[in-house]
Amino acid sequence: MLHISEIASKLASSPTLALDAQAKQLKAAGEPVIHLGGGEPAGAMPDDAAKAALEKIKSGLVKYTPVSGTWAMKKAVVTHTARVYGKEITADGVLVCGGAKQAIYNFLVSVLNPGDEVVFPAPYWVSYPDMVKLCGGTPVVVKAPDGGFEPKIEDMSAAITGKTRVVMLNSPNNPSGTVYSNDFIGELVSICENRGVYLMMDDIYRELAFGDSSPVSAFAYSRDNSNLVVINGISKSYGMTGFRIGWAVANPALIKVMAKVQGQTTSCPSDLSQAAAVGAIEGNQEFITNLNHSLKHKRDVLMAELKLINGLKVNVPQGTFYSLPDFRFTGKGSEELSKFLLEKAKVVTIPGVHSGVEGHLRISYCGPENDIIEGARRIRWALDPQSPAEIVIGAEKHTRTW
Ligand SMILES: Cc1ncc(COP(=O)(O)O)c(C=O)c1O
Repeated sequence: MLHISEIASKLASSPTLALDAQAKQLKAAGEPVIHLGGGEPAGAMPDDAAKAALEKIKSGLVKYTPVSGTWAMKKAVVTHTARVYGKEITADGVLVCGGAKQAIYNFLVSVLNPGDEVVFPAPYWVSYPDMVKLCGGTPVVVKAPDGGFEPKIEDMSAAITGKTRVVMLNSPNNPSGTVYSNDFIGELVSICENRGVYLMMDDIYRELAFGDSSPVSAFAYSRDNSNLVVINGISKSYGMTGFRIGWAVANPALIKVMAKVQGQTTSCPSDLSQAAAVGAIEGNQEFITNLNHSLKHKRDVLMAELKLINGLKVNVPQGTFYSLPDFRFTGKGSEELSKFLLEKAKVVTIPGVHSGVEGHLRISYCGPENDIIEGARRIRWALDPQSPAEIVIGAEKHTRTW
C-alpha cells in the first residue's frame, strides 16, 4: 500500500484548478463549453514584461538568484509598495517567492505550531483551509450575516483566542469581489495589534478594485507594521499567472525566517520570471488601468445578464474578476448545481461550498465578453422556468424539459 503522511492524506486538491483543467480539456475536445470558472485575466502580458524576459533569455545567463530574490526585483517591490500604498519600505522587508501562494505558505509555515489557529472570514479563497492544515494549523472561519460578505467585527474579534496566531484577510476578495470597508480593516488592524497576532493581508487583487479611490490599506492603520504581512504578486494585475512570482512584505526579522524556509524548499524564485516581473512593475502601468476598465465593463455586462434570472440574488463585486451570486432559490447544493450547469448548459462555474458559502456559485468575468453573455444566458435557460424553453448550444437546439 502507498504510504503517505497524515498531513498529505488530509489535504484536498484545489477544486478550482481541477475544474479549470476539466474546462480546458472539454474545450480542446471540441465541446461548446463556456468557462466562467477562470482565475486569470485573458490576454497577453504587458510588453515591458515580455521585453525584459526576452532580454534575459538573450543574455544566456539564467541562474540561481539570492534566496529572497534579485536585488532588482526587491527594489521593484519597494517601488511597487511606494506606488500602490504610499508606503516606504526597505529591501530587507521583502521576500520574493514563486507566486503569492508560496509567499503565504512560507509565512504560515514560519509562524504556526501544531494546533495554532488561523482566523479568516467566509467567503474565502479555496486554498486557505488546506494551506493552514498543511502547516499544522487549524482554520477558524467567521461567517458574515446572511445576505452579505463582510462579517461583523465583533464576530472576528470573538474568534480570536489564545490559540490564534494569524488573522488573514483577502481584499478585494476571491470569490465574492468584496472590498472590505475601511472601518472593518482599521478595527481588525488594531485588534490584531492589541492581541499580539499576525494580520496577513492578501492583496493580490488590490490593483483590480473598481472604486474611485483605491481601497484603504492596513499599513495606513498600523502602529509600527511589526505584525503585518502583506502579500502581492504579478499574477492578477499583470495577467502573468504562468510566471509564478509573488512576494511578502513584512518585518525584516520575520522575512529572514521565511527566507530560511524558502532556501530549503525552492532555493529561490525563477531568475527569468523575476526579470519579467521587474519589467512589468518598472514599466508602463497603463496595462493595469486598461485591465481595470475592461473588467469593470465586463462586470457590468455580467450583472445586467444575471439580473434577468428570476430568484437570483447578487452582490455587485467591487473588485477582482469574480462574482458570487446566491443560487439558493434552486434548492440545490453548489456542487450539484455546478455539475448540473456543466451537464445541461455546458457552463463551468465554481461551487461556493469550497469557499465556505453553500448555495452560491463563483462566476468569473475575466474571459471574453461574448462568453460572459452566452454563459449567463445558458444559466438562465437552465434555471429560470420563466425564460424561453429553447436554446441553441453549439450547433444543437435544446429544449428545457425539467
Ligand atoms: C486570494 C488569492 N490569493 C493568492 C493567490 C495566488 O496567486 P499566485 O498566482 O501569485 O500564487 C490567488 C490565486 O488565485 C488568490 O485568488
